[in-house]
Amino acid sequence: MRRPVVAGNWKMNLTRGAAVDLVRSLAASLGPSDSSASVEIVVCPPYVYLEAVGQAVQGTSLRLGAQNVSDQPSGAFTGEISTAMLIDLGCQYVIVGHSERRTLMGETDEIVNRKVLAALAAGLTPIVCVGELLEERQRGQTSAVIRKQFEGSLAGISGEQMARIVIAYEPVWAIGTGQVATPAQAEEVHLDLRSLLRSRYNAAVADAVRIQYGGSVKADNAAELMGQADIDGALVGGASLKVGDFLAIVAAAGGH
Ligand code: PGA
Repeated sequence: MRRPVVAGNWKMNLTRGAAVDLVRSLAASLGPSDSSASVEIVVCPPYVYLEAVGQAVQGTSLRLGAQNVSDQPSGAFTGEISTAMLIDLGCQYVIVGHSERRTLMGETDEIVNRKVLAALAAGLTPIVCVGELLEERQRGQTSAVIRKQFEGSLAGISGEQMARIVIAYEPVWAIGTGQVATPAQAEEVHLDLRSLLRSRYNAAVADAVRIQYGGSVKADNAAELMGQADIDGALVGGASLKVGDFLAIVAAAGGH
């Protein structure tokens, strides 16, 4: 059985103090580190708060993730952050190819693919985002768009590597809009992704890969989404900034 993973993508929000407060409140409610907990819970603060939040999650059941990473190991890349730096700060996860980076920062599938390979090589678990725009859904292109992103962003990945990757299906029209995909709409794409995995690899890999849903996941819609057979957790933006809401989403995914 796949262990659901719920990740909070804090985006460019909070102050250092608020970030530490948020994670301390989460940890206090979740209790001490418990490797048998039914849900993996990840927080992804802005780069500059990784160290402080990383210290606050020590000994708790929360894991640390970053929102982005460079595909380069080191050198003259002003403003970039490497996989080794993330590991140094205690990160275990990294979000790669979020739609905000694809659309606002021009990240292509090829760039996303290089970042995924760099993350895997460093031992980080990439959370690889895919998702269609509203126009693409309206034109009936959802499946084709997802297939293209899957093929491009996850090119050259072995079956063993793939089993370590988390995929996040995030329809772009649902992100930050309050317009959540229906459980049936989400499940349909998750099934598509699983069949892409099965045809490229095999049933074992397709069954092992965790596929999160993301896009306006809230306390009041999480249970229905998480109830779908192929939805293995959530990538949460806005609601991850509120302790009660994030905990409710974790609970809906099968946890505390
Ligand atoms: P949202 O963001 O939950 O605020 O819609 C999700 C995401 O961007 O990962």
